[in-house]
Amino acid sequence: MPGIIVLGTQWGDEGKGKAVDALGEHVDLVVRYSGGNNAGHTVVVGGEKFIMHLLPAGILNRNATTVIGNGVVVDLDVLYHELDGLAARGEVVDHPLISANAHLITSYHQTLDKVTERFAGRKRIGTTGRGIGPTYSDKVNRVGIRVSDLLDADLLHDKVVASLDMKNQTLVKIYNRREIDADIVTEQLLAHAERIRPYIVDAARLLNDELDAGKVVLFEGAQAHHLDVDHGTYPYVTSSNPTAGGACTGTGVGPTRIDRVIGVAKAYTTRVGEGPFPSELFDAAGERLRADGGEYGATTGRPRRCGWFDAPVVEVANRVNGCTDVFLTKLDVLSGWERIPVCVAYEINGQRSDIYPMTQSEFQVAKPIFEFLPGWTEDITKIRDFDRLPANCRAYVKRLEELIRCRISGIGVGPGREQAVMINDLV
Ligand code: GDP
Ligand code: IMO
Ligand code: MG
Repeated sequence: MPGIIVLGTQWGDEGKGKAVDALGEHVDLVVRYSGGNNAGHTVVVGGEKFIMHLLPAGILNRNATTVIGNGVVVDLDVLYHELDGLAARGEVVDHPLISANAHLITSYHQTLDKVTERFAGRKRIGTTGRGIGPTYSDKVNRVGIRVSDLLDADLLHDKVVASLDMKNQTLVKIYNRREIDADIVTEQLLAHAERIRPYIVDAARLLNDELDAGKVVLFEGAQAHHLDVDHGTYPYVTSSNPTAGGACTGTGVGPTRIDRVIGVAKAYTTRVGEGPFPSELFDAAGERLRADGGEYGATTGRPRRCGWFDAPVVEVANRVNGCTDVFLTKLDVLSGWERIPVCVAYEINGQRSDIYPMTQSEFQVAKPIFEFLPGWTEDITKIRDFDRLPANCRAYVKRLEELIRCRISGIGVGPGREQAVMINDLV
């Protein structure tokens, strides 16, 4: 079972970090393939909490080599802040290998992210402000800076000058900001050049070689299906492809080498930032989910918007990504409800739709149609066997399985590494 993708099926923060960690010692390499430090992946080991933004969450798995693929956008300050932070906590981890083709986030990308959001006012996306969108824009516009550019200081400087040419005009004339100095940006980037140099690799070749050798490679998705720039709730999305295809383009590994796609789904739904969310709760029930689930962003600390499980949202993600299995997280958070609503369909302009609609204008006005499932009161955080879960809890899982049309192979019953109920082997 060598190539395994783990990805989010909702709007992020499903517990991908925990799912990656749960696959643990069977994995030889863990590779991030999209996004950057807009992600926040939490792993709880022995009661200690670690949040990885740019580093693969798999870095806490001592047996695995970690890789940052070409599809990732890299903020070098964050990379070293995270690595040094782990070292300061006594965690002995290896420096990740980094694709020469990955793009670099610079200070001007961060500035542009912030000023464009401010300028957009009520039409803002609610980005994480980490410079993600502007860095991917530069990549597609062919004026980006790549990790390999760090190997040649003159070339790097030329590229920064070229990239800033138009941007400085925009910053000064439209946003009324000061010009950004190319020399300073080049220096900021070169400050890390010597440290990173030994770890810059042809990641595509390396990963293919490892797969040839029968190694287990886990592709760690960031963000989620509904934040995907092609398949998500556009324009309220991120600027990359967190979906399964992104694991191939974002690492240089062909689709024939992927054996399993694990979709991570939260037992209810959350979202950070702007954009449609039909099953969102605006009342005390939403407050209760937020409090019980600790739903505050791992990256920005923003309170997450909370709502009931939306089956068509997860069903379409399973379909588009070809998920073979689902890992259902945070089921423990639902203990104590008399009945649990699940969104099974939408009412769109007076018509019932059992599937995720074709257009975003339809999804914007979709009203949830709920089915009500009986709840359970028991604390399930110490249960490790599916058969020991309360009957209504098992029935909830089985009903979700039908609605999302994918088998549920693992269940999270708490944030800790060991707090999982495994139904089918995932590696
Ligand atoms: P990611 O971005 O998908 O990796 O998810 P985040 O780390 O941003 O958010 C998930 C949060 O839920 C983190 O605080 C996790 O520690 C926590 N978590 C993950 N799985 C479970 C679970 O099964 N039960 C509970 N109670 N918490 C969980
Ligand atoms: P993980 O990997 C939740 C959201 C932002 C915003 C939109 C665009 O932890 O699940 P960006 O900064 O990417 O341009 O912001 O995407 N967003 C996330 N929401 N989890 C994430 O990552 C996210 N990464 C980006 O809140 O709405
Ligand atoms: Mg997160």
